[in-house]
Amino acid sequence: MSVNEEQQTGKDGALANAQWGGRFAGGPSAIMQDINASIGFDQALWRQDIAGSLAHAAMLARTGIISEADEAEIRRGLTEIGAEIAAGRFTFSTALEDIHMNIEARLSERIGEAGKRLHTARSRNDQVATDFRLWVRDAIDGLDAQAASLMRALSRRALEHADAPMPGFTHLQTAQPVTFGHHLMAYVEMLARDRGRLADTRRRLNECPLGSAALAGTSFPIDRRMTAAALGFDRPTANSLDAVSDRDFALEYLSALSILAMHLSRLSEEIVIWCSAPFSFVRLSDAFTTGSSIMPQKRNPDAAELVRAKIGRISGALVGLLTVMKGLPLAYAKDTQEDKEPVFAATDAAALSLAACDGMVRDLVPHTERMRTYAGSGFSTATDLADWLVRVLKLPFRTAHHVTGRLVGLAEKRGVDLADLTLEEMQAEEAGITAEIFSVLTVESSIASRTSEGGTAPANVRAQAARWLAALGEPAA
Ligand code: ARG
Repeated sequence: MSVNEEQQTGKDGALANAQWGGRFAGGPSAIMQDINASIGFDQALWRQDIAGSLAHAAMLARTGIISEADEAEIRRGLTEIGAEIAAGRFTFSTALEDIHMNIEARLSERIGEAGKRLHTARSRNDQVATDFRLWVRDAIDGLDAQAASLMRALSRRALEHADAPMPGFTHLQTAQPVTFGHHLMAYVEMLARDRGRLADTRRRLNECPLGSAALAGTSFPIDRRMTAAALGFDRPTANSLDAVSDRDFALEYLSALSILAMHLSRLSEEIVIWCSAPFSFVRLSDAFTTGSSIMPQKRNPDAAELVRAKIGRISGALVGLLTVMKGLPLAYAKDTQEDKEPVFAATDAAALSLAACDGMVRDLVPHTERMRTYAGSGFSTATDLADWLVRVLKLPFRTAHHVTGRLVGLAEKRGVDLADLTLEEMQAEEAGITAEIFSVLTVESSIASRTSEGGTAPANVRAQAARWLAALGEPAA
């Protein structure tokens, strides 16, 4: 009977787990096994687990804790197991609880005695803490690359539409004209901070728990610097109790993902609004829309709606894990096994959301004429009029605001734009006004005048987009 088969028989309560069978006469009940087992999800850690074990075994041999011959056997065995798992030929056993014991049991099955020496000076507690940090680190690297790609897509589109006017909103009411490029570049800044948060998280998590053992460290003469370096960590963790029990790195990661998901949710909501028939600011192709089973005219932005919603899962994962960790006494407790599923689920959701946004941003076609029309509606250049009164007539801003307000009221009553009022009508409100004022009332002049740092003037937008494209390794020219 193979070790795995033997473990599966244990499900009837007939046999003790081979990993701690010395102390246990009977096996767990089926319910115990179900609640205890994590192999259903933590098999996702197999690459990290094998990498951790290879580093640990190499260190055990170098320090003379195991023989070079045993280490060579372990290396061969783990490499073969990795190939088995990659090829889908590995049978995961629930009786063996988790990925760590599945791999270790298989190793002993394949190479015998040497395999049983691998767990010297190690516990699953430092093992899982190490594997999970490695997994989160890899996930950060993947999401970072995706976020960079989305930033490139946004910057490209922004450069293309650096001077395309659109209405800028506050309270979702037309406020002042901006450019479509400027609007897109706002999300580039948000994503840059998201990447910064992920990079901070990565920097702080990059310490190696391996060698903390169960909770107190070990009496074996291990070399923690060697394993830390082999696994790409900056250094070993400093306190064994902290190392095996905290999961703040996962919480930081989930909070960074929650904020990222919030940004993507906002972008998606805007795409939903822009695609709606009354707005019709952009069009998404068939590649990013779906039809309706009953209304033939429909073209629904489902991808955008789903990204808008994904924050529910992602921030849910954060709150879920925070709640798991709250009140846990030091050091390791089985509660922390609940750390993985929320992190895996949030990672999948974030990766899919980034991919969908990337696709939509590259796909969308802005209706620039329509945006231009609405950019000039709703008295959007009223602030430009008030600013002219301040700049040219030296009125105090508050007074200029009142004069402008009365002119807006008049235009509204007559059902015309500010630029359609006559000079005489304007002068009736403020005698000093000259015909020059009409030059600041167009959408183009308004946008071009916003040259303050970070403002919407096309020259600014072009410079920002080009700067980001260069920084992201995809120069504009
Ligand atoms: N599957 C466990 C987890 O994810 C591994 C650590 C188990 N340690 C223990 N002492 N039972 O946390």
